[in-house]
Amino acid sequence: MKAGILTSGGDAPGINATIRGVGKTAINNYGMQIIGIQDGFSGLLHKDIVELTDTSLSGILNVGGTILGTAREKVFRKMINSPDEKDREQIKNAYNELGLDCLVCIGGNGTQRSTWMLSELGLNVVGIPKTIDNDVYGTDVTFGFDTAVNIATEAIDRLHSTASSHRRVMVIELMGHHTGWITLHAGMAGGADIILLPELGYNMKAVVSKINQRMEIGKAYSIVAVAEGVELPVRERPATYFAREIESQTGYETRETVLGYIQRGGSPSPYDRNLGTLLGGHAAKLIHERKFGRMVAKIGPDITDVPLSEVAGKLRLVTPDNQLVAQGKRMGISFGI
Ligand code: F6P
Repeated sequence: MKAGILTSGGDAPGINATIRGVGKTAINNYGMQIIGIQDGFSGLLHKDIVELTDTSLSGILNVGGTILGTAREKVFRKMINSPDEKDREQIKNAYNELGLDCLVCIGGNGTQRSTWMLSELGLNVVGIPKTIDNDVYGTDVTFGFDTAVNIATEAIDRLHSTASSHRRVMVIELMGHHTGWITLHAGMAGGADIILLPELGYNMKAVVSKINQRMEIGKAYSIVAVAEGVELPVRERPATYFAREIESQTGYETRETVLGYIQRGGSPSPYDRNLGTLLGGHAAKLIHERKFGRMVAKIGPDITDVPLSEVAGKLRLVTPDNQLVAQGKRMGISFGI
């Protein structure tokens, strides 16, 4: 059998571990031929490929980013949805001209939606969820998330030094697209005093009152962790907005940090390396068993798989009853509500 692997959407730590997991399992355990498709779905259309061998898959386990390159898949999505049948024929022809028996698509919820659409076109596909945002419905966790939380937590730890030395309020904005998973986990692990999540919303009065309360009991500084997706009344970076509003409404010196792409960079954590390896290996098993149209997943302790038709494109959101939210509230951490 011959399988193609592509990576689509934002890069994330652990993609190369996953490519290695799929490839080495497929080659060594199932005797398959593996090709890498460059730069996401556009590489499929343009047949930009590279042969992946046991040797070429060595030495990438701890490497960040993706050796195949990636791209956002909005253009490709337009082709799949195009009213012109020729566009869809072009996709199917590219797949067939490459002689593929299956296509493995590593990506976030947008990519999984495109992967499901390819399945609907009759292509043999397997999806592997990938994103630092941890917002892919159908799996408990995505690789990339643990590394991002480690990076963000270390950043928050470091902000405590300046905050306590200058008696300042430090606002840090973290990634997560429309969800607050990174901000919740890193905010709690980093000892943030206020954690603002898109799913929960916020009330500025509650934010200001928490900071004043802390100052009044002698806690001479505060750390505010805010997710980039928190909705604001103005078009502005949340870190900038909250730093300005807090300083003007409390009078305390306030500074902002936007951690941005640092959260996606560098070597994956051991957890993400092993999660990617396990998910990749399970994808190779699905190909061998010709179980297509499915996304591999971690559910509870199990590495398993779910139908793409049931999960593709859906967001997994932080809920108010999340155990970290509940525990944070019990300890007096403010979620701005
Ligand atoms: O999906 C991962 C992510 O880093 C999000 O957290 C962030 O909002 C987005 O990608 C940024 O997208 P881009 O890399 O296209 O700027």
